[in-house]
Amino acid sequence: MNPVLKNIKTRRSVRSYKNTPVPKELIEKVIEAGNYAPAGNNSQSWRFVVVTDTEMRGKLYNTAYANWKRFFDNIKKNNPEHFETVKHYGEMKDPVYYEAPCVVFVIGTKAIDCALVTENMMLAAHSLGLGSCYLYFGAQVLDNPEIVKALDLKEKEKIFGPVILGYADKFPDPPPKKAPSVKWV
Ligand SMILES: Cc1cc2nc3c(=O)[nH]c(=O)nc-3n(C[C@H](O)[C@H](O)[C@H](O)COP(=O)(O)O)c2cc1C
Repeated sequence: MNPVLKNIKTRRSVRSYKNTPVPKELIEKVIEAGNYAPAGNNSQSWRFVVVTDTEMRGKLYNTAYANWKRFFDNIKKNNPEHFETVKHYGEMKDPVYYEAPCVVFVIGTKAIDCALVTENMMLAAHSLGLGSCYLYFGAQVLDNPEIVKALDLKEKEKIFGPVILGYADKFPDPPPKKAPSVKWV
């Protein structure tokens, strides 16, 4: 298969990581790939914040986990059917960042541009032998002023991702993917 198509098709959201740090050169390669994303008017208005420090990752986890837990408990209470499909997350040690050794925040104001950056990053990570995952819940840290300060978040700026990176401990089976809905005109 064409190697680019193969990389796209075999990338997975990884939710189990080895406790092995990711070499800085690889993180830089992933960020460089993100930075090559297309952007409206080539503005490249995004920026990146990389967190590998254990203490800072702990602060991220404590803040995001509290928000995740509220969301999880709410599903349990109000949507038992859906809860059955997600309850295994409640048994994980870290159901937000999956203990990944590297968390990369993509920060910007232009959602489409930043989304393209994150996909480039995840594809690059996969091609370099790294697992990755886009984390909505990993961005739920804005109620902690210390984290907002560390991210240098300005008014109007938003977090995209974060994208976590690390060596996969378990590489998941592919989830079902629907055939594309296409109308040829
Ligand atoms: C906008 C967005 C938010 C996501 N948030 C989370 C998240 O908070 N936690 C998580 O484990 N996965 C998250 N994912 C990953 C999706 O669950 C995953 O892409 C999907 O299940 C398909 O699996 P695949 O990436 O292996 O193809 C997110 C993906 C996207 C695009």
